[in-house]
Formats: sequence, structure tokens, C-alpha cells
Amino acid sequence: VDHRADGGDLDGTRILVSAGGTRELIDPVRFIGNRSSGKQGVAVAAAAAARGAKVVLLAANIDDSVLAEVATNPAIRVVPVTSAAELETAALAASPGADVVVMAAAVSDYRVANVSTEKIRKEDRGGDAPTLTLVENPDILVALVRERRPGQVLVGFAAETAEDTDELLDRGRRKLHRKGVDLLAVNAVGWSQGFEASDNTLHILGSAGDVVATASGSKRDTADALIDAIADAIDDARE
Ligand code: CTP
Ligand code: CA
Repeated sequence: VDHRADGGDLDGTRILVSAGGTRELIDPVRFIGNRSSGKQGVAVAAAAAARGAKVVLLAANIDDSVLAEVATNPAIRVVPVTSAAELETAALAASPGADVVVMAAAVSDYRVANVSTEKIRKEDRGGDAPTLTLVENPDILVALVRERRPGQVLVGFAAETAEDTDELLDRGRRKLHRKGVDLLAVNAVGWSQGFEASDNTLHILGSAGDVVATASGSKRDTADALIDAIADAIDDARE
């Protein structure tokens, strides 16, 4: 693979990346999670570091085999997090020191209202299935946009199910405007698409909703394309 832009065009740029999928506890042995493997976000961290950036990677429940790609990279500091609340605390603590924030993590939209301190046991329930009450988690990306420093570049991800590319981009544009980000990387997901897969297609939307790039290939290839778009957005933000 030809990582054509490898080299120092992001020398010294500080990039905060979140990756993986958060988990919300139900009781001491169970959680609600999602299918994000963290591969795309880890690839973004690796691609940024290859171009000279200093990366903080907020890693939500990423398998060691996936993290192996960055574990020994001195330019990447890995900070493990579990729940959306932990990710929020870590992200808001690190963002003032970042020139770019990339929220690639799949964040749980809801958490369990009353986490059971005891394991939920069938024996105690007399054949009654439990009902979980959920409450909405704060939107971390929206909070980061609210707190953004001048010149800071904010990047979101959106994994969407859609009938076709038009619907995918429509959903992406609405999300981009709701969040107020500089770039939104949109990809289609389905039962056997997107998650865990090695290959991906990213449609990268600029702040006006324009498609600045469409990239297909390995998650590293699509990460390189996103880093190109980020490098352009940094230049725009400095003008
Ligand atoms: N995100 C976040 N905090 C949340 C939810 C999402 O920071 N509580 C971020 C994700 O990391 C991603 C972007 O927002 O960068 C879009 O996430 P997505 O789940 O697609 O958006 P939602 O606003 O949660 O909309 P949906 O109902 O489609 O899930
Ligand atoms: Ca969501």
C-alpha cells in the first residue's frame, strides 16, 4: 500500500481521536454495547502519527489485537475508557490541548437508569423478564463544538443504514448541521457491512455539506483520505 502523504505535513499537530464502542452497565456482569471494533479510529490515529502528529487515542473497549497497530508507537498515547460518561470526561479534559478532535467512537446514546448493584437473577424474578429503563447520554461531540478553541478542527463520524448513497449523504448532511462539525465522515453499515470489516468506504463531508472526498479501501486507506481532508481544514481554519 502506498501511503503517499506519509511524512511530516502534520508535524507537531496535536490530534485527539476517540475510537471503539462505549459500554453501559446493566448490572455487575452485563452491559449494553455496540458492534464497533475500533479499527477505523485506530487507523486514523496511526495515519495521523505517520504524518508527524502527536496523538491521544481514547480507546473504548478495543481488542488488544486491534490496538497492537499503535501500542508501541511513541507518538500515540492510548487512554482506555469504558462508558460514555468516562469518554466524555476524558474527551473534555484532553480537548483544550488538541488542534484537532476526531470522534470516531460509537457512543452509547442511552445508559441504564438504575444500574443493579446485584446481578439480576432469574431465581428472584419468578419468570418475569426485567424491563430496562434508559436515559439519554450527553452528546460529547456537541459539547466539544460548544467548547471549541479558535482554529480547532472538529471531526465527526456517522455510521448509517441507508437504501442508497443519496439517502446516506442526506442523513450525513443533516447530522453534520446538527453537530456543527468541520468534517463528517459518513459510512454505510448493515448486518455484514462496516463493522469489524477490514475495508470501508468513507464519504467525507465538508462544513457546507459538500462531499470533499470519497475513499474506498482498507481502513488505513480511508483514514489517510480523512487525514488529507483534516490537513486542508487546518489550513482553512488558519486563514
Ligand atoms: N457522538 C457523541 N456523543 C454521543 C453520540 C454521538 O460524541 N452521545 C458522536 C459520535 O462519536 C460521532 C457523531 O457524534 O462522531 C455521530 O454519532 P451518531 O451516533 O451517528 O449520531 P447521533 O447524534 O447519536 O444520532 P443517531 O440517532 O443517528 O445515533
Ligand atoms: Ca448515536
